[in-house]
Amino acid sequence: MKHLFLKSLPAAMLLALMSYVGAQEPSITIDTSKTTIKTSPLLYGIFFEEINRAGEGGIYAEMIQNRSFEDKSRVDEVRNTPLAWGVGNAEASLDRSQPLNRNNSTSLKVKTQAGGFICNGGFIRDFNGRDPGSIAVTSGDAYDLTFFAKTGSKTDLKISFEEGSSTLASASVSIDGDTWKKYSVTLTPNKTARESILKIGTDAPAEFSLDMVSLFPQKTWKGRKNGLRPDLMERLVAMKPAFVRFPGGCFVEGVGLENRAIWKNSIGPVEERINQYNTKWGYNCSNGLGYHEYLQMCEDLNAEPLFVINCGMGHETRNGTDSMYVVPMDQMGPFVQDALDAIEYANGDVTTKWGAERAKNGHPAPFNMKYMEIGNENSGKDYNERYILMHKAIKEKYPEMRLIANVETQGFRNEIVDPHLYSTPDRFFNGYFTYDLYDRNDPQIYFGEYAVTQGGGRGNLIAAVAESAFMTGLERNSDIVIMSSYAPLFIRTGWQAWNPNAIVFDQNRSYGIPSYWAQVMFANNRPDKLYRVTINDGSSPVDPIQGKIGFGTYRTQAEYKDIKVVKNGVTLFEPDLNNLDGWNRISGTWSAEGGILKQTSGNPDTLITCGSPDWTDYTLTLKARKTGGSEGFLISFGVQNRELRRWNLGGWNNSTHAVEADDFIEEHLAGSIETGKWYDIKIELKGSEVNLYLDGKLMKTQKRLKGGRSAVDAGINESAGEVILKYVNGTDKPVTYTINSGKTGAVGTVKTLTLTGDNPNAENTYEPPENIVPKAGSVQADSAKFQYTFPAYSVNVLRWKK
Ligand code: AHR
Repeated sequence: MKHLFLKSLPAAMLLALMSYVGAQEPSITIDTSKTTIKTSPLLYGIFFEEINRAGEGGIYAEMIQNRSFEDKSRVDEVRNTPLAWGVGNAEASLDRSQPLNRNNSTSLKVKTQAGGFICNGGFIRDFNGRDPGSIAVTSGDAYDLTFFAKTGSKTDLKISFEEGSSTLASASVSIDGDTWKKYSVTLTPNKTARESILKIGTDAPAEFSLDMVSLFPQKTWKGRKNGLRPDLMERLVAMKPAFVRFPGGCFVEGVGLENRAIWKNSIGPVEERINQYNTKWGYNCSNGLGYHEYLQMCEDLNAEPLFVINCGMGHETRNGTDSMYVVPMDQMGPFVQDALDAIEYANGDVTTKWGAERAKNGHPAPFNMKYMEIGNENSGKDYNERYILMHKAIKEKYPEMRLIANVETQGFRNEIVDPHLYSTPDRFFNGYFTYDLYDRNDPQIYFGEYAVTQGGGRGNLIAAVAESAFMTGLERNSDIVIMSSYAPLFIRTGWQAWNPNAIVFDQNRSYGIPSYWAQVMFANNRPDKLYRVTINDGSSPVDPIQGKIGFGTYRTQAEYKDIKVVKNGVTLFEPDLNNLDGWNRISGTWSAEGGILKQTSGNPDTLITCGSPDWTDYTLTLKARKTGGSEGFLISFGVQNRELRRWNLGGWNNSTHAVEADDFIEEHLAGSIETGKWYDIKIELKGSEVNLYLDGKLMKTQKRLKGGRSAVDAGINESAGEVILKYVNGTDKPVTYTINSGKTGAVGTVKTLTLTGDNPNAENTYEPPENIVPKAGSVQADSAKFQYTFPAYSVNVLRWKK
């Protein structure tokens, strides 16, 4: 679980824009007489990462895998044969003796017998040189093949698309000369096929060399050369993204630094771009969809570019725990320069070095990039120093740039911070409240990655419903949460490196998982300003905190003694701590002797529990002493099974105390734990509330969240003059509300948009297409007070003229 970093505000701020009151008649009252906050026009964007073949073999319309023979993955290099290529009646070997250019060092030497050929199956895994391939072609469409070749004697190449015994299109190209020359030919198949292969062969025995064998449909998005797949771009257009974050993610970090994303390798003529082996996600990337294409994609989508730059840290040491892949501060110059040059490339006029490059690459006008993120999921001391260095250098030259940090950096004022959350549906339902308590003086938030990744199948309905509850929370707090993006965006079937992903595709089909459709619904129905909403849901108050106690540590050794649990003056539990009979050791190395409970391993997240799952309203007291390691104590309360509900003292590298639980807002207090000192700890449960004491001092009182499975917000879209109400029902029952939008909220036709299904686990698949999709409808409402039933497991948007 990734942690959200919040500071506390007075509780009165909680639910400022939305309140729950108990009542018999469920009702939603929208005060349409005045608006509260403006929502951010950038709130809904997309995060494009080169993962799961999102780009290479994905939206980038190139149809040939390993077109330049630079793919260094797996055993094929050992066998000296090219990955993703096959041969028939021919020999083909990788050749580094006659490079096409200095960035493209490997070419293919081919020796055919009569009728021999080489062939490529497109982006299919482990292509074996025969059908099926995964090159999809449409009858009557034109496909441009280009390649570089050289040969000792004039040779006629026969080029074709084939599927089974059918030849779908064929052409002939004569190559001649022993220096590299570029050739091109257009193939127009007479039949539609999904599993064809591209063959290049000869009738007579021949010897020749090939490089950069590239195949594109003429029908790319907006007909652009080196362009994008129109069907997948249409999926993005439907998401109406306000911005595009690119190119990662972990892809930006590399694993070590040598395979990090380097934008300068991804511009200019495609045959001169340096390939990047995508170590983190396991495939080669030609950089064909490079920095320029990305900026062009943003322009085409009318979206702001948000470019992520490496901060001098590789993925293996992303939290600065090891210096192996961290660039020393005195060698950070080139990394800072890369960031500055990226901005100049995007925005500089044509008289600047990089602005001129952009013009040379076909776009003299600036792209006007305003957002840059420094690093990806980096944190710790090393990140702190590098972030500040890069931030200052960028601001000095480009004060107008808005810079995003991965976490709040110590001792430095950040503009925007990018938390991430991958978790369970429950965590997302409760996340509805996450920013209600956020201090408005703290940095703005770009919630850059989130998704239900546990208990959401391969992207099911309940995941989309839970994320939608969370998103209404972002929208309700969009004065501070200015941007957000679901992650990841794409997966090509057969290339899964992450689950789930918003858009699933293969060579010519695609579908959106329910979460994709939730994104579409929210982005297309963002109110400009919000109204205050009061919801009477007739439900019971928040349940008490209930369950066992537990002790733990994170990479730390600690001792616990004088443990006592008391309820209403009666002692429920007071172990002698000379053995661990009746305790439940979950992780770590635990022992008890001489009245002391000890944890001696250096493992993360150790835990031992005891007591009863029925306990409520108790007070736990104990003494705790750290004996070694990097953090402090983890004291659990209200434990049912193994779920996380603990007071973390000296967490986050011994800098912070906070309650970590799915049903609490994680409010951080600065604090550390000294080694060797005994601390007095008291945790007092009162119904749904907990009082947390350290050395006799009340450090914090926190309340369990409502734990509901519903969410609501409402506002106005001023240009359409429409009230927009969003309601998320995560329960298994339909709920009927009286919706009251007051005197100024008169209604007639209410347009409805509903994402739902009979089964919370329902998923979409290629067949039948789009099972769970938003369905549009309408109801007539005679007055501003009308009844509406929200189906079980549903995301709903209602719109009416104000
Ligand atoms: O979205 C998938 C991955 O999750 C991203 O690469 C990374 O930023 C996060 O860990």
